[in-house]
Amino acid sequence: MQTRCALVGMPGSGKTTVGRHLARRFDLPFVDMDQRLEERLGSSIRTYFEECGEDNFRQHEQALLAELAQEPGPMVLSTGGGVVLREANRAALRQGFGQVLYLRATPEDLMRRLRRDRTRPLLQVDDPLARLRELYRVRDPLYREVAHYIVEAPRPTVQGLVGMAAMQL
Ligand code: S3P
Repeated sequence: MQTRCALVGMPGSGKTTVGRHLARRFDLPFVDMDQRLEERLGSSIRTYFEECGEDNFRQHEQALLAELAQEPGPMVLSTGGGVVLREANRAALRQGFGQVLYLRATPEDLMRRLRRDRTRPLLQVDDPLARLRELYRVRDPLYREVAHYIVEAPRPTVQGLVGMAAMQL
């Protein structure tokens, strides 16, 4: 069984929820990158984006992922949706984690789930669905590039996603 696994996918695809369930089911440590970053930055990600900009956020994200990829031992890692944008991060994911799972969801599904979400800085725009479609167009190939397995469900439930993800560990 794989005891080091990373979850990638768009914002709202369920990485944190599925990661938590997987970790509990297999009794593995769970690490949520966004949560770790908020602790480290001493602010919410949304506030940090507004005050310091996306580039600075990406630097911290890259540094944290490099550390986690080097950290030995079992881990279920939930990543931020933009982690795959940097080549160095894609390499760290492939090399540092035995199994990378892509939780794939369409922009329309994501929109339904994120309609009332105010925490995600990249979606605070007039037309969040158009933004999600643009992010998806750029990122879907990058998620596919790093993933060992794609967890795909047309109408995903948490239990369904967890079950499919669990079969890959
Ligand atoms: C981001 C997604 C967020 C967070 C940051 C940037 C992105 O994580 O890392 O707001 O670029 O898509 P989630 O995927 O958990 O929302």
